[in-house]
Amino acid sequence: MQGGLGDWRLWTWIRHARSDSRFPLLRPRSASFVGSERLLLSGAIQADDSRLGVEYNMTSDPIAVDGEQQESIPDYYNDTVDDYEVWSKEGYLHYGYWRPWLNPFRRKPMLEEMNRLVFSRLRLEEMSSGAIADLGCGVGGVSRHGSRLHPHLEFHAMTVSPGQVAAAKSKHRDERVTYYCGDYHHLPFEDRQLDGAFYLESLCHSTRPETALAEAARTLKPGARLVSTDGYLARPLQETSKVFKYVVETVAHNWAVPMFHEIDLGRQWTGNGQLKLIEEFECGWRLGPSAMHAAHLSVIHFLKLMWRREVTPWQWNHLRASAFTIALGLYRRNFRYHVLVFEKQ
Ligand SMILES: C[S@@+](CC[C@H](N)C(=O)[O-])C[C@H]1O[C@@H](n2cnc3c(N)ncnc32)[C@H](O)[C@@H]1O
Repeated sequence: MQGGLGDWRLWTWIRHARSDSRFPLLRPRSASFVGSERLLLSGAIQADDSRLGVEYNMTSDPIAVDGEQQESIPDYYNDTVDDYEVWSKEGYLHYGYWRPWLNPFRRKPMLEEMNRLVFSRLRLEEMSSGAIADLGCGVGGVSRHGSRLHPHLEFHAMTVSPGQVAAAKSKHRDERVTYYCGDYHHLPFEDRQLDGAFYLESLCHSTRPETALAEAARTLKPGARLVSTDGYLARPLQETSKVFKYVVETVAHNWAVPMFHEIDLGRQWTGNGQLKLIEEFECGWRLGPSAMHAAHLSVIHFLKLMWRREVTPWQWNHLRASAFTIALGLYRRNFRYHVLVFEKQ
């Protein structure tokens, strides 16, 4: 595929050039987060690159699997903390869920509706106490919202990006949220400690979803729920057109996602036999109204970055991916948004 390969080569070149002293302008502004400074910030575990291996159960197309890309996830999120602020001041990094009577021109209510969808599947309103893990928490906005709606619950929010943990702490008020900088494939929680866990648009970053789910399942009490929401390939990548491959790879690679998982494989996940899928539904069209906001926000933000002349490679990537997401969302035959609800056995 001409365009896709060209894009991939450029991406690989940028990654190499960033560590090359001949190209100082390409070095990420937050390069100090990479490597030895990728530490635990709040007494949590360290994100260890050697653990970020590859498991071929994410997509049937091995061309999409590249363990090296996993290393760039913290870089991407460290560099784009300010850019995501344009999307949501409250710190929601996901798409919004539109329901009848919600104003499609206002993002915040739709973003919070998505949080509520996850909370309702976790049955938080039925809990009088308990601990919930937010795995891949961004800057913690979802957990803070959950804590305000359910103040009797404790939230444990983890991200692999130190920059996001710092931003989460700066936004924190009196909510019952503890932030962790770490890798969700290795959780700092006891066996059967948690009453629920969720991945809100974060499991797509894993090339080892079964390992991640098995680890989350270990920490859940029997009967507790695990919810995951994400974009999925509706068919194997090799069965799609060149144009679709170009669009999906542009979005994925520029968002530090190795490749979106295939929903047919996702439906078979069991977290090493510990989880049972109890509910699954597709709701892509509900995301349409909030996804449309990405178009004008990207243009305005692009102009601001140009004016400031301090754009990092990941910021460019992020803008590019955001612009392509609308096209991706229109490929309903190949790309869908699913909610998966599992129960610990
Ligand atoms: C698209 S953001 C979603 C953030 C948040 N769930 C929200 O909806 O606002 C994906 C998040 O997953 C996190 N993430 C990706 N891979 C991770 C890993 N291996 N361990 C922990 N967090 C990870 C990223 O750092 C980022 O915070």
